[in-house]
Order: sequence, then structure tokens, then C-alpha cells
Amino acid sequence: MYHRFFPSFIFSLLISFQPAIAGDLAYGEYLAGECVACHRVGAEGGIPPINSLPAPYFIEALKEYRDGERDHDLMRTVARSLGDTEMAALAAYFEQLEN
Ligand code: HEC
Repeated sequence: MYHRFFPSFIFSLLISFQPAIAGDLAYGEYLAGECVACHRVGAEGGIPPINSLPAPYFIEALKEYRDGERDHDLMRTVARSLGDTEMAALAAYFEQLEN
């Protein structure tokens, strides 16, 4: 009897360990390592602060770079490497940071 339940048990474990939940803070913090090289507090040289930006604005900005509506080579390259899940996680993470 037991072996008939085992596969579904494994399956539900896999589901519950998926890291890519929309807006996941821990995932956002992990991804943010790539961003804070430029976007650190007090950064100069035309790099805007992104801490505490509202998540909807943050996601929209990234999509505008990705789709070419905002013109900036570096941020385009960055945004094109991100999927929707990554953008949502980053937005959730940076939104709750203080400037
Ligand atoms: C190589 C440096 C660099 C890296 C790395 C970088 N950015 Fe940027 N980012 C910039 C610059 C410069 C701008 C301003 C571009 C412009 O003038 O439109 C910007 C703009 C932005 C904006 C728009 C801010 C606003 O107020 O409209 C967001 C959001 C953003 N970056 C998020 C990110 C995220 C998230 C990452 C990491 C995945 C990241 N950036 C990585 C340099 C960088």
C-alpha cells in the first residue's frame, strides 16, 4: 500500500520547495547581488537609487528597458536577462529597503 502513495508524496515535496514564487523576498535578495554593484546607496554617475521604489513602478521600469521603451544599454542588458518571476522578486525585495 505504502508505495502507491510515495510518488505523490515526493511530488508535493518538490512543489513546496520551488523557490520561484512571485515576489519572493529571499529570491529577490539573492538576485539583487547583480544590481547593487551599481545601485548602492549614495551611488553617483547617473545611477538612480532603487531602494523603496513601489513594486509596480519598479517592474514597469524594468519592462520598459527590456522592451526598448527606455533607452539605456546597461539596463537593457540587465532587464533582458530577467524573467517576470525575477522582476517580481526583485521589486518585492527593493521595495522594502530603506534609502
Ligand atoms: C552596470 C550598472 C547597473 C547594473 C548592474 C544595474 N543597473 Fe539599474 N540602472 C543603472 C543606471 C545607470 C540606470 C539609469 C538609466 C537611465 O538613465 O535610464 C538604472 C536604472 C534602473 C531602474 C529605473 C529607476 C527609476 O527610478 O526609474 C531600475 C528599476 C533599475 N535600474 C533596476 C535594476 C535592477 C533590478 C538591477 C539588477 C537586476 C539593476 N538595475 C542593475 C545601472 C545599473
